[in-house]
Amino acid sequence: MPLSLRDQVAIVTGASSGIGLGVAKALAEAGASVVVNYHSQPEPAEALVKQISEAGGQALAVKADVSVEADVDALFEACRKRFTSVDIVVANSGVQKDHPFVDMPLDDWRRVLDINLTGQFITAQRAVREFIRRGPRPVSKALGKLILMSSVHDLIPWAGHVNYAASKGGIQMMMKSLAQEVAPQRIRVNAIAPGAIKTPINRAAWDTPAALEKLLKLIPYGRIGEPDDIGKAAVWLASDESDYVTGTTLYVDGGMTLYPEFADNG
Ligand code: BGC
Repeated sequence: MPLSLRDQVAIVTGASSGIGLGVAKALAEAGASVVVNYHSQPEPAEALVKQISEAGGQALAVKADVSVEADVDALFEACRKRFTSVDIVVANSGVQKDHPFVDMPLDDWRRVLDINLTGQFITAQRAVREFIRRGPRPVSKALGKLILMSSVHDLIPWAGHVNYAASKGGIQMMMKSLAQEVAPQRIRVNAIAPGAIKTPINRAAWDTPAALEKLLKLIPYGRIGEPDDIGKAAVWLASDESDYVTGTTLYVDGGMTLYPEFADNG
């Protein structure tokens, strides 16, 4: 397979576990040099860097809290120092802090919005600034590619997770408005909306046979997703293969957004 991201540089936030780790690995396998951002888990981030290096690629682990501007500035600075600039930015960091609405502490409302939405805003802003500062490069038709990690819950309401669903709904319109704003500069902005992917964030939904059986009722395609399913989508959205795609959300969800409960009802 040709390396569609050869000679390009990517930053992936929240890349020490779950979907972010899968995306960072896939981008590296497609030939990109990757900055593996982590917040609190250096070990898996360093292990991924080692794995990428041993496979002949280039990677760098950098700690940053995406909700803190100075941290994100330092992340981009570390990337520039090692790799000169960046072509692909995947704003992926996200958390869940679930509570029934009536009991939702303001702190957990704010923390989720801060990381999932404001964190993506800060990351996206620094990405756009860097793409413009650097100017075009022969490695890609676009000036830069930005991928925001959304969720099926930018569309499907989710009781008990109002803060999380609100953050993902916000990403939807931030992505589209930003895509409209920067398309004339040839910056492509898209989102990926994963369904149920087997990662630590939703362990309770898949780690017992009973939980998995219940979850599969929501997935017409009949299997839980793997981080690599999202990694492959990210490689496509980051490559020139999708050069005419901007302002769109790619649902990678085994049909979760097809309202399977209506298949024999309604
Ligand atoms: C959430 C997971 C959930 C999935 C499908 C994701 O955005 O983080 O916890 O399993 O949506 O409901």
